[in-house]
Amino acid sequence: MYWLGLDVGTGGSRALLADAAGQVRFSFVAPHEDMRMERPLWAEQEPQDWWRASAAAITGVLKTANVDGSAIQGIGLSGQMHGLVLLDEAGEVIRPALIWCDQRSQPQVDFINAKVGAQNVVRWTANPVLTGFTLPKLLWVRDNEPQSFARVRHFLLPKDYVRFKLTGELASDVSDASGTSMLDVVKRAWSMEMMSGLGLDASILPKVYESSEVTGTMSAQAAEVTGLKSGIPVMAGAGDQAASAIGNGIVAPGAVSCTIGTSGVVFAFLKQPAYDPQGRVHTFCHAIPQAWHVMGVTQGAGLSLQWLRNQLAATCSYDDLTREAETAPRGAHGLFWLPYLMGERTPHLDARARAAWIGLTAKHRRAELIRSVLEGVCFSQNDGLEIIRQLGAAPASVRLSGGGAKSAFWHQLFADVFRVPVAILDTQEGSAYGAALLALVGTGEYASAAEVCARAIKEAAIKQPQPDAAEFYRKCYRVYASLYPALRPTFESIGSLDE
Ligand code: XUL
Repeated sequence: MYWLGLDVGTGGSRALLADAAGQVRFSFVAPHEDMRMERPLWAEQEPQDWWRASAAAITGVLKTANVDGSAIQGIGLSGQMHGLVLLDEAGEVIRPALIWCDQRSQPQVDFINAKVGAQNVVRWTANPVLTGFTLPKLLWVRDNEPQSFARVRHFLLPKDYVRFKLTGELASDVSDASGTSMLDVVKRAWSMEMMSGLGLDASILPKVYESSEVTGTMSAQAAEVTGLKSGIPVMAGAGDQAASAIGNGIVAPGAVSCTIGTSGVVFAFLKQPAYDPQGRVHTFCHAIPQAWHVMGVTQGAGLSLQWLRNQLAATCSYDDLTREAETAPRGAHGLFWLPYLMGERTPHLDARARAAWIGLTAKHRRAELIRSVLEGVCFSQNDGLEIIRQLGAAPASVRLSGGGAKSAFWHQLFADVFRVPVAILDTQEGSAYGAALLALVGTGEYASAAEVCARAIKEAAIKQPQPDAAEFYRKCYRVYASLYPALRPTFESIGSLDE
């Protein structure tokens, strides 16, 4: 018997099978089409492509495991957050989804703050509204594509579109819904104040559930496409970060993780909502009832390395790149990478921020470029960790997951920059794994996420900070932190030129 976790990511959809002990047994990834970037800082994907890839990932994992669909007891979903999927009366997709890293909606953010008041936004949703979040994307469609907007009957988040295709149900969960600017994060229910304040029809919103609740069952049609059995329960699941936190065992106060996917996220468990007064980190519902989390997001973490590889080293693997980076000295001879390829959230909340290398000389080789990118992502994640420390959630250690955890070299860099021990777990499956664990809870195998995590999750390797490197990187981080404020006016000027 297996429980299936399905993560609808940015680069691909991953299906994973866990057994009754919560151990990962098989996984399979089906890639997505590249995101479409019609203009700088715009990013769209086709929801139908997520469904195609999800179905391919499910059939792929069943084939890999050589099991029949009847072995699957339940499904948990996870997915990239904040994306805007719009459906018409017939349940058809109206336009491509504006995804999490799309930054086009600053005018709509300004409008929301002016219309309902920035303080009310925080009062009603626990966070400032950001271009990355879903609500301003919805208003962008209202303002720019009135014909599309007139057809909107339902709004869904990315994984919830896949749920709709699996079960026919329109549903979401509180952790993913937290990133829409439409959820009252403290009350864990849609904010009617926000909807009515902006003249929006609340009937477009899906029903919200706690993450391990059952939202519906697999339809006969979806069973035929995926090879699963109709009638199996589909749990609400979670946004990819909350799901990844379950997969990393971040289920009690003091636990902090750092997940490097396309984005990079430092994530801390909270028993009560806690806020950064400047809104630099997000306060969202956790995938556990009556628990919340705070997270700091680097928009272009893994994306920085992917971009560098695609542009400068297309024939190299990521392992080749990190090996080459090791040949460069610490600090890459004074070269700094600002990872703002898609603007930045934590700590700058600036959709216009641009990526940059600062400090290039004729001596720099590709090895230094790569090393500076790895270090720059660490510094950027440290920005988030510093704010989490200020909020009183200082960690004794951090658990590292996602693509970043696959490199022993990057693992050590994180420990040196964070100045705390950094652990990796015996499984690196992240969000899809967390989704499968939520399915185990949802079908009643375990009483809670904490219970299944206590049984299933083990630390495999810990890197301690090296005192000399940690001291050196503390100085580098100070330089790094001075760069964005110095460049901000320049980013604004570049933005106006590009518009
Ligand atoms: C979290 C966030 C990203 C996306 C894509 O706020 O925007 O982590 O969920 O992974």
